[in-house]
Amino acid sequence: MGKRKPENKLNDLSGKEWIKFQKSWFVKNPPARESELLVHPAKFPEELAGEFIRFFTKKGQTVLDPMAGTGSALIAALACGRKAVGIELSEKYAEIARERIAKLEQDLFAQKQMCRIYCADAADIATLKIPKVDYIITSPPYWDMLHAKGAKTQKKRRADKKLDVTYSADPRDLGNIHDYDEFLSRLTDIYREVAEYLRPNKYMTVIVKNVKKGGKIYPLAWDIGREVGKFLALKDERIWCQDNQRLAPFGIYNAWVSNTHHHYCLQFRKEKKIQDMQEIDIQKLLDESREGFRDYVLNQVYVKDGDKLMRVKVPDVLPEDTSDDSDE
Ligand SMILES: C[S@@+](CC[C@H](N)C(=O)[O-])C[C@H]1O[C@@H](n2cnc3c(N)ncnc32)[C@H](O)[C@@H]1O
Repeated sequence: MGKRKPENKLNDLSGKEWIKFQKSWFVKNPPARESELLVHPAKFPEELAGEFIRFFTKKGQTVLDPMAGTGSALIAALACGRKAVGIELSEKYAEIARERIAKLEQDLFAQKQMCRIYCADAADIATLKIPKVDYIITSPPYWDMLHAKGAKTQKKRRADKKLDVTYSADPRDLGNIHDYDEFLSRLTDIYREVAEYLRPNKYMTVIVKNVKKGGKIYPLAWDIGREVGKFLALKDERIWCQDNQRLAPFGIYNAWVSNTHHHYCLQFRKEKKIQDMQEIDIQKLLDESREGFRDYVLNQVYVKDGDKLMRVKVPDVLPEDTSDDSDE
C-alpha cells in the first residue's frame, strides 16, 4: 500500500508550489497601474498579495487588510476564492476599493457579500462587526515619508498631475504622525487590536520598508518585527526586490547611501505559547524570588518560573543583571 499524503493544514498548494514560496526573497516589478489607482501614493501589486494569500489560506477562508488603501489585498483575496474584509480611513480610497470590488464581483459572477469594506480608523476595529479571520496581509504608511522634503521632485510631479501626495490630512492617519516613536507605538497598538481577530495558529504578513530620513535610518521593518513580536511570534521575512528601478548616484564618491529597492514581508504567527504567557512585573518577581533567570529576546524578557516560561514587562530601567556569564 502506498504512503498516504500528509494532510495540508495551511493551504491548497502542491508540494512543489509550497517549496517555491519558501525562498526568502523574490523579484516582483509592479505592473503599470490603471489610471484610477494612480491617485493613491503607494500600493502593493495584487499578484504579490495573491501569492501570499494562496500560501497562508485555503479557499473559502477570510483575509483582512486593516489599512486597505484601494483594496489590492481584497481584490487578490476574492480573485483566489477567499472572503475579504478591509478597513480604510480615507473615504476616497475606500470608495475606489468598493468600485473595484463591485466590478470584480460582476466579472467573476461571484456571490455578493464575499467582501466587506469599512471606512474607519483601524484603531476602532472593536466597534466594527469584524468576523474572525484566517490571515491578515497589510502595509502601513511608511511613517510620515510622504511629507518628507527629499521626496519633493516626486511630490511635485504627482501634484502637477493632481494625484495625492499624502494619504489625507486626517490626524488619525498614521502617515501624519511626525514623531517616530509615537508613530511606531500607535501602529503597534493597532496591530495588537487587529491580532485579536486572527484565529489561533494563523498568520499576519506586514509589508514594509526601513525608512531613510534626513540622512538617518529609522529601521521601521525591524522595529515592527521587535514590537509586534511581543504578542505574535515573528516567523522571519521574505524580501521583495524590484530590479527595474533607475539607480541614483546618492552619495557618489563620498559616502555609502543605498538605492533601496526592497521591502520586507514580515510573517507573524498567532501562537498559543506566546498568548498564554502571563504578563508579570519583573521587579515583583525578583523581590519575591532570586531564582528566576532572564533571557533577552528582541527586548522581551522571559522568566522561568517552575516549568513555566513567562513574558514579563520590561521596566524602564532593568535591575542589574547579576547572572554569571563568564563562560560566554
Ligand atoms: C501603504 S497604504 C496601503 C496600500 C494598500 N495595501 C494598497 O495596496 O492599496 C496605507 C494606507 O493606510 C491608510 N491609513 C492610515 N492610517 C489609517 C488608520 N488609522 N486606519 C485605517 N487606515 C489608515 C492610508 O489611508 C493608506 O491608504
